[in-house]
Amino acid sequence: MKRVAVYAGSFDPVTNGHINIIERSVKLFDKVIIGILVNVNKQYWFNKEERVEMVRSSLSEAIRSQVEIIPFNGLLVEFMAQQKASILIRGLRAVSDYEYELQMHLTNQTLSHDKIETVFLPSNRENLYLSSSLIKEIAKFRGDISPFVPKNVVEYIEKWVDHHEN
Ligand code: PNS
Repeated sequence: MKRVAVYAGSFDPVTNGHINIIERSVKLFDKVIIGILVNVNKQYWFNKEERVEMVRSSLSEAIRSQVEIIPFNGLLVEFMAQQKASILIRGLRAVSDYEYELQMHLTNQTLSHDKIETVFLPSNRENLYLSSSLIKEIAKFRGDISPFVPKNVVEYIEKWVDHHEN
């Protein structure tokens, strides 16, 4: 039986922390699908196509050939059922992530009638306190975001800030 895992998130934008989790995940599962949430009620900096492209272009050729990048809307458990995936990957940073992640795990477990198992991968040292929202905050004030996101993503973010300057 193939172990199909979904690494789900907003990826608005993808960070070095996300990339690290993807690189480690492909070693653990037969197939890794990166599920990018498209929620009509949520305000993103980047649209579906931009978020897909940012993730795609941040991965090495070798890793890219081992993953699928698929946007989804609606419930994660339904997306996972469509993809025949039973493992949900979530990165876990500091303790502060735990309560929200536990809540998501329990909800998904109930909604999927125990068909989905969540696997937490602890963040590596460099990315322990990294978040997409913090990076956006730094970018808005024109701080240097290059230590936190892949090179090509820096350009996307800086362009966004340029276009939204008032
Ligand atoms: O990167 P994020 O924003 O922390 O990812 C959160 C995500 C996308 C995994 C979560 O919001 C989600 O699964 N949304 C889809 C809607 C859903 O299924 N909600 C119930 C799960 S608790």
